[in-house]
Amino acid sequence: MSEAKIAQKGPYAVNVEAGKTYHWCACGRSKNQPFCDGSHVKVGIDPVAFSAERTETVYLCGCKRTGNKPFCDGTHSSL
Ligand code: FES
Ligand code: FES
Repeated sequence: MSEAKIAQKGPYAVNVEAGKTYHWCACGRSKNQPFCDGSHVKVGIDPVAFSAERTETVYLCGCKRTGNKPFCDGTHSSL
Protein backbone atom coordinates (compact mmCIF):
# COMPACT_ATOMS: atom_id res chain seq x y z
CA MET A 1 0.00 0.00 0.00
CA SER A 2 1.33 3.44 -0.94
CA GLU A 3 1.38 6.35 1.42
CA ALA A 4 -1.33 8.98 1.30
CA LYS A 5 -0.25 11.99 -0.71
CA ILE A 6 -0.50 15.45 0.80
CA ALA A 7 -3.14 17.24 -1.27
CA GLN A 8 -2.53 20.51 0.56
CA LYS A 9 -1.00 21.40 3.92
CA GLY A 10 -4.20 22.73 5.36
CA PRO A 11 -7.91 21.94 5.59
CA TYR A 12 -10.61 22.46 2.99
CA ALA A 13 -13.59 24.45 4.24
CA VAL A 14 -16.69 22.88 2.72
CA ASN A 15 -20.38 23.45 3.16
CA VAL A 16 -22.22 20.22 3.89
CA GLU A 17 -25.94 19.55 4.02
CA ALA A 18 -27.69 17.76 6.88
CA GLY A 19 -28.39 14.11 6.10
CA LYS A 20 -26.11 13.91 3.06
CA THR A 21 -23.27 11.41 2.83
CA TYR A 22 -19.84 12.47 1.60
CA HIS A 23 -16.72 10.51 0.71
CA TRP A 24 -13.52 12.15 1.85
CA CYS A 25 -10.41 11.35 -0.17
CA ALA A 26 -7.94 9.61 2.14
CA CYS A 27 -5.32 8.82 -0.51
CA GLY A 28 -4.64 12.42 -1.54
CA ARG A 29 -4.83 11.65 -5.26
CA SER A 30 -8.32 12.83 -6.11
CA LYS A 31 -8.59 15.69 -8.58
CA ASN A 32 -11.76 16.73 -6.77
CA GLN A 33 -10.35 17.47 -3.31
CA PRO A 34 -11.31 16.98 -0.60
CA PHE A 35 -13.67 14.38 -2.01
CA CYS A 36 -12.93 10.99 -3.55
CA ASP A 37 -12.99 10.71 -7.35
CA GLY A 38 -12.03 7.04 -7.59
CA SER A 39 -8.30 7.66 -8.08
CA HIS A 40 -7.51 5.53 -5.01
CA VAL A 41 -8.19 2.32 -6.90
CA LYS A 42 -4.53 1.68 -7.68
CA VAL A 43 -3.33 2.97 -4.33
CA GLY A 44 -5.09 0.67 -1.90
CA ILE A 45 -6.36 3.41 0.41
CA ASP A 46 -10.13 3.66 0.75
CA PRO A 47 -12.13 6.86 1.11
CA VAL A 48 -13.83 7.69 4.41
CA ALA A 49 -17.59 8.12 4.25
CA PHE A 50 -19.33 10.47 6.66
CA SER A 51 -22.83 11.83 7.03
CA ALA A 52 -23.41 15.45 7.85
CA GLU A 53 -25.44 15.83 11.04
CA ARG A 54 -26.35 19.41 10.23
CA THR A 55 -25.97 21.92 7.47
CA GLU A 56 -22.76 23.74 8.26
CA THR A 57 -19.20 24.46 7.21
CA VAL A 58 -16.72 21.72 8.09
CA TYR A 59 -12.95 21.64 7.77
CA LEU A 60 -11.80 18.50 6.01
CA CYS A 61 -8.18 17.42 6.20
CA GLY A 62 -6.12 18.22 3.12
CA CYS A 63 -2.80 16.81 4.34
CA LYS A 64 -4.31 13.35 4.89
CA ARG A 65 -2.36 12.95 8.15
CA THR A 66 -5.14 13.82 10.59
CA GLY A 67 -5.84 11.58 13.56
CA ASN A 68 -9.54 12.45 13.31
CA LYS A 69 -10.54 11.49 9.75
CA PRO A 70 -12.01 13.16 7.80
CA PHE A 71 -11.64 16.33 9.83
CA CYS A 72 -8.56 18.50 10.27
CA ASP A 73 -7.08 18.07 13.75
CA GLY A 74 -4.17 20.47 13.33
CA THR A 75 -1.59 17.80 12.42
CA HIS A 76 -0.83 19.74 9.21
CA SER A 77 0.98 22.43 11.17
CA SER A 78 3.77 19.97 12.05
CA LEU A 79 4.40 18.90 8.44
FE1 FES B 1 -4.63 17.60 7.73
FE2 FES B 1 -5.14 19.80 9.11
S1 FES B 1 -5.16 19.55 6.99
S2 FES B 1 -4.64 17.87 9.86
FE1 FES C 1 -8.54 9.38 -2.75
FE2 FES C 1 -10.64 7.95 -3.45
S1 FES C 1 -9.51 9.27 -4.68
S2 FES C 1 -9.67 8.03 -1.54
